[in-house]
Amino acid sequence: MSHEKILVLDFGGQYNQLIARRVRDHHVYAEIKSFETPIEEIRAANYKGIIFTGGPNSVYDMSSPHYQKEILELGVPVLGICYGCQLISWMLGGKVESCEKSEYGKIEITLSGESRLFKDVPEKSVVWMSHTDYISIPPEGFTVTSSSADCPCASMENAERGIYAVQFHPEVTHSEYGKVILKNFLYEVCGCKGDWVMDNFIENTVEKLREQIGDKKVVLGLSGGVDSSVAAGLISRAVGSQLTCVFVDQGLMRKDEGDFVEETFTRLFDMKFVRVNCQKQFIEKLKGITDPEKKRNTIGTEFYKVFWDKIREEADGGFFAQGTIYPDRIESGKGDAATIKTHHNQVKMPEDITFDGVIEPLGDLFKDEVRRVGEKLGIPKELVWRQPFPGPGLGVRIIGEITEEKIKVLQEADAVFRDEIRKSGIEDQLSQFFAVLPDVQTVGVMGDHRTYDHLIAIRAITTDDFMTADWARIPYDVLARVSNRITNEVEHVNRVVYDITSKPPGTVEWE
Ligand code: XMP
Repeated sequence: MSHEKILVLDFGGQYNQLIARRVRDHHVYAEIKSFETPIEEIRAANYKGIIFTGGPNSVYDMSSPHYQKEILELGVPVLGICYGCQLISWMLGGKVESCEKSEYGKIEITLSGESRLFKDVPEKSVVWMSHTDYISIPPEGFTVTSSSADCPCASMENAERGIYAVQFHPEVTHSEYGKVILKNFLYEVCGCKGDWVMDNFIENTVEKLREQIGDKKVVLGLSGGVDSSVAAGLISRAVGSQLTCVFVDQGLMRKDEGDFVEETFTRLFDMKFVRVNCQKQFIEKLKGITDPEKKRNTIGTEFYKVFWDKIREEADGGFFAQGTIYPDRIESGKGDAATIKTHHNQVKMPEDITFDGVIEPLGDLFKDEVRRVGEKLGIPKELVWRQPFPGPGLGVRIIGEITEEKIKVLQEADAVFRDEIRKSGIEDQLSQFFAVLPDVQTVGVMGDHRTYDHLIAIRAITTDDFMTADWARIPYDVLARVSNRITNEVEHVNRVVYDITSKPPGTVEWE
């Protein structure tokens, strides 16, 4: 079954993924494509509507991303946002100029006249603005539908042609009625019905998977993370024990995590579950390595070696599945590619392993949608809402050389911290929280004895996107309990410190 689709045409704005997510929140499927997508492809896709995103450029600078005018003549409604709004004006002969002073932040706009786009929006409301150019004269045939103190044209439209444009960002939550405005565009202007619902997604995907897989086998690498877990759940629902999940436990997971993953999947789903326990092998490989990048590389290389060896054993033709999600696939949406740290998420298949094809059942979903599917499949909350956990695991939370003893100390301390956070009821307010073993020993006193033992650092952050983060203001009494319990219950720890560094300048992980 094909569903209604909205195109988010990307002109380089920072909110392009957010726009697509907001559209989907209204049960309409949205996909992001670069402004370089040929018009024939856009025409052929039968979109219900097109949204031009914002972007950092000026339309009158010819090196900025532009698009051919014919896109406004496809008979498909268009909504331009910020740069997209100026682009529409520029394309149709309106005038775009540089503001005397940039308009930035929460700004009040006043509506003028009737507009389908502003149905159920009060005459005055607050929107999020961030622009240096503005439309001084709208194109012929356009009516100004709102303005602000500094912006004579905060929105404009040519309703007859189905072209709408807003200078502000309706996709950002600071725009009070942003949700309503987007909904109006989808339902009042584009005539969408709202057929993007997760129940349908599961049903359709299971059906498609059955057709594609037939009676062949599928292997999937399960990491215990959200994406591969939900992918495994979907495929198992489609083809049951034709699915083999390979779970490599390198011994760098949190306390009892490997057992929890195994227990959950074997209990919930019909599949063949293969667990490879290889902590000893990893510790051996990591002996003497202290450099963070070298450690990451060693863990990554060894992981894939073990993984592919097992896949070679288990694969029997058929398909290879992975939990790729939509943001992994959007090319235009990629930000600054500078490598601060090497991450090892991309799976590259060795040449000697061949499959009939690769299956990525979550390739069209955003993370929040993956979680919704996971919940509907009955995967437990601990897995579906699991906080991010780095591929190299505790390996990047133990500074210096990794040993079995240090892993054990860190696992125990981390488990206490997580337990206290859960009990205190503040878990939902934190984006990520964990313990670190900085490999520092300090002097302490226990009873009448002097001790010289490990220091444990605890880290908890709040963030929207993990690119920047703030340290969480955990109540002192919770910190006190964590510190008490760790020093009492975890052997070889005599001191606990709390990391109060934001990102930047610190990263989330210590290595
Ligand atoms: P940093 O430390 O770079 O972390 O501020 C940002 C987010 O990424 C996670 N992280 C990783 N995830 N493989 C991963 O899959 C890695 O090597 C890795 N390093 C950091 C980190 O936990 C945080 O959520």
